[in-house]
Amino acid sequence: MRGGRGDSAVERFSLAQRVEHFLLLISFNVLVITGLPQKYSGEGWGERLIVLFGGIGQTRFIHRTVAVILVALGLYHLLVVVATRKRPVRRHDMNLSIRDIRDMFADLRFLSGRSQERPRFGRFDYRQKFEYLAVLWGTVIMAVTGLIMWFPSLVTQWLPGVVVPAARVAHGGEALLAMLSVVLWHFYNAHFRPDVFPMDPAMFSGKITVERLRHEHPEEFDELQELGMLPEGHSPEPAGNPPAPTGSGTA
Ligand code: HEM
Repeated sequence: MRGGRGDSAVERFSLAQRVEHFLLLISFNVLVITGLPQKYSGEGWGERLIVLFGGIGQTRFIHRTVAVILVALGLYHLLVVVATRKRPVRRHDMNLSIRDIRDMFADLRFLSGRSQERPRFGRFDYRQKFEYLAVLWGTVIMAVTGLIMWFPSLVTQWLPGVVVPAARVAHGGEALLAMLSVVLWHFYNAHFRPDVFPMDPAMFSGKITVERLRHEHPEEFDELQELGMLPEGHSPEPAGNPPAPTGSGTA
């Protein structure tokens, strides 16, 4: 893991954001291990997990209870985003713009060795935004399709009956997609990327070293520097281009 200048570090995530991430981590995993055995109840591993949770009734109860927690967490998150949108620093900054698409192509040129310059990312780079939006959108799909399965008689008072089996197919498919994207995409960014292996600690410690901030989020580095919010003793020069094409941060 690239450490940088000693222990010189700045805050990246507040305590509330870290608690939110931790609850998301726990609730998502519980939903995966109580949902997938229902989808694959005919398989040995699925059946064994259901028995482990105390039977199908208990497994469904845990799944629905934790689903309510996840939906509440999502609503809380949206409220916080709206309430803090005008903060001067460490803003939410997750909106996709044309600039992110340009950054993506420029970064591809850099990573494939066709350019010497990497785009200067702000607080979150295009990959972090893509991942965040996938979580947001995925949660909406899971919640809508889950609620259709949960309240079929209510839903079919307005919609045709076919929406219930369709919701089941979509819910199970999206569950697999979400799990695989966490295992492949999120684990790469947060654990296996050479810059952070074996783990990017920012979401747990709340801190990022000044050195990493400078290389991975140079625009935010400049912004904090202008506001005098960086620790004493770092170089006063603006953040430069990162040294090697090793991937983006999920800090
Ligand atoms: C976000 C809110 C969610 C709600 C309201 C919800 C609700 C439900 C409901 C009602 C069922 C049918 C079983 C039962 O009656 O208990 C179900 C099944 C399932 N859930 Fe969820 N769930 C949610 C999130 C998730 C998440 C995040 C995952 C995994 C990433 C997941 C994976 C599954 C799977 C795989 C099934 C089995 C589908 C099938 O039988 O083909 N659910 N869920």
